[in-house]
Amino acid sequence: MRLTTAALPFLSSAAALRSSSNGESAQPAIVPKRVAIIGAGAAGSSAAYHLAQFAQDSGIPLQIDVFERNWHIGGRSTTINPWFDPDQAIELGASIFVDVNHILVNATKAFNLSTNNRENLLANIPEVGIWNGKELVFTMNEGGWWDLAKLFWRYGYAPVKANKLMRETVDKFLQMYERPHFPWRSLSDVVQLVGLTEATGLTGEQYMQNKGIAPKFANEIVQASTRVNYASNLGTIHGVEAMVCLATNGAMSIAGGNWRIFEHMLSSSDYISTHLNHTIAQISKQADGTYNLTSIAGRVSSFDEVILAAPLQFSNLVIDPAPEHTPDEIPYVKLHVTHFTTPHKLDPLAFGLEADKPVPEYVLTTLQVDEDYGSKPNVGRAGFFSISIVSSGVNVHASKPRSEYIYKIFSPKRIDYQFLSRVLGLQVSKEEAEKGDVDGTISWINHWDVHSYPYEYPRVTFDEIKLDEGLWYTSAIESFISTMETSALSGKNVAQLIVNEWNKQAGESSNGEDMKIEANWDSNPWNNAQKPIKDDL
Ligand SMILES: *[C@@H]1O[C@H](CO)[C@@H](O)[C@H](O)[C@H]1NC(C)=O
Ligand SMILES: *[C@@H]1O[C@H](CO)[C@@H](O)[C@H](O)[C@H]1NC(C)=O
Ligand SMILES: *[C@@H]1O[C@H](CO)[C@@H](O)[C@H](O)[C@H]1NC(C)=O
Ligand SMILES: *[C@@H]1O[C@H](CO)[C@@H](O)[C@H](O)[C@H]1NC(C)=O
Repeated sequence: MRLTTAALPFLSSAAALRSSSNGESAQPAIVPKRVAIIGAGAAGSSAAYHLAQFAQDSGIPLQIDVFERNWHIGGRSTTINPWFDPDQAIELGASIFVDVNHILVNATKAFNLSTNNRENLLANIPEVGIWNGKELVFTMNEGGWWDLAKLFWRYGYAPVKANKLMRETVDKFLQMYERPHFPWRSLSDVVQLVGLTEATGLTGEQYMQNKGIAPKFANEIVQASTRVNYASNLGTIHGVEAMVCLATNGAMSIAGGNWRIFEHMLSSSDYISTHLNHTIAQISKQADGTYNLTSIAGRVSSFDEVILAAPLQFSNLVIDPAPEHTPDEIPYVKLHVTHFTTPHKLDPLAFGLEADKPVPEYVLTTLQVDEDYGSKPNVGRAGFFSISIVSSGVNVHASKPRSEYIYKIFSPKRIDYQFLSRVLGLQVSKEEAEKGDVDGTISWINHWDVHSYPYEYPRVTFDEIKLDEGLWYTSAIESFISTMETSALSGKNVAQLIVNEWNKQAGESSNGEDMKIEANWDSNPWNNAQKPIKDDL
């Protein structure tokens, strides 16, 4: 459907040409706008998808070329196959999105993608435990992520207050999707206008303290969330990102991989061409204001607008001449993500439990009371940010096929045989810890070092979106909130800014400003009150 309507601008110009051959007056040929997007992750794919839609709505013909240096679409949203089995796909990076993530949720519906809803994999074992390297300070049982009675007993009203604060934060953030704030030319300004600067300017700890949330709840529950989501302690992450960690309602993922959303976005219009394994080495601004892009293979092509949809610091790009604004380096976390498979459960003794007590499915971590946050977040005595069972499956490569668990670990250091031996309470060899052994304790393992997201230090200003005339940058948002959704929002915002400029140039100002950004989606995203902490607690 989208394809046929997207074709309309061209159909109408073709019709104009035909009528000219009938002797009627010819309309001037419309030269399509040429847009280059560097990066086919969430931001680049969303920019392409929304640009094609907005341009179509304004009747502007365009050609979008998306250049991706990897062989896959989705950037940090990508999947791997346990046991190298192509039928088993699990998320390597960004694993879930939530129901207030309107762009991703809408796209899921628009593309008719099926979602996996997270369920308890194992009966009779606690769902979540929070480990501080000495003891499990808190354990929650089945029936959702949170055990209400237990929360209340341990933390009093703090969870209720935190939940209210989180909702207020999310409501403010959602204004960034709507007029009059959307589209925004300055991230610093819009964050201020929607009222989030107070929270980005403070640490999560200060922010919650100011709002009267008991430190025990903050340091155990909230900090466990900031560590699993952003490898950061509460004293170093800013208040908005800490609140985002609590917004877990309606967590979902796409069957087969979240990258499918981005793949569908890129194939949503005939005017988007995606070039994989295509690294851009240089962007040069021409005298006429257009940009020539040179690939590492030496190919040159020319564009009216360029969207840089990847962190500049990792792109090895030369921008010549230097743009008006050069974005700052973003302080990325270097995270070690380890996936492995084994038929064994975690060893209760390694988590301070009696031998007959099962280890929770999700082990999150926090600091002990005497431990420092550290300037770079300190992992503390726990030694890792999380270990969880993400799925299970059958290892058909073993000499006798066997059912196994699929685990994921987030840690600041590479996981080795000593770590695995300790948490499983079984001897794991060096070889197995590196490569796995189909019949061994670790049957398959994948080590991934990734610049996963920035250290979200408190700040009140953010980088520029428009680096120069015709040159745009989506990654500034990562220092505000780093999620697939916010990257997609940043791409959509740039798409709208570009189309608005085109409309202005064409003197059709009324069209562009009035575009389909009506706020007619569910005005109360919290009507399924957040599972963990109910209002009526
Ligand atoms: C959506 O997908 C389901 C199954 O995957 C299919 O039965 C249904 O017809 C699809 N709907 C549309 C509108 O494409
Ligand atoms: C990927 O791109 C590089 C650089 O252009 C090229 O040398 C290489 O052959 C490409 N790989 C494949 C498999 O096409
Ligand atoms: C820029 O690209 C255009 C079209 O590919 C080409 O004709 C022109 O020579 C290029 N300019 C430079 C300075 O390379
Ligand atoms: C989501 O979809 C609804 C219904 O089609 C639409 O009104 C709304 O604007 C969309 N929201 C976003 C953020 O795309």
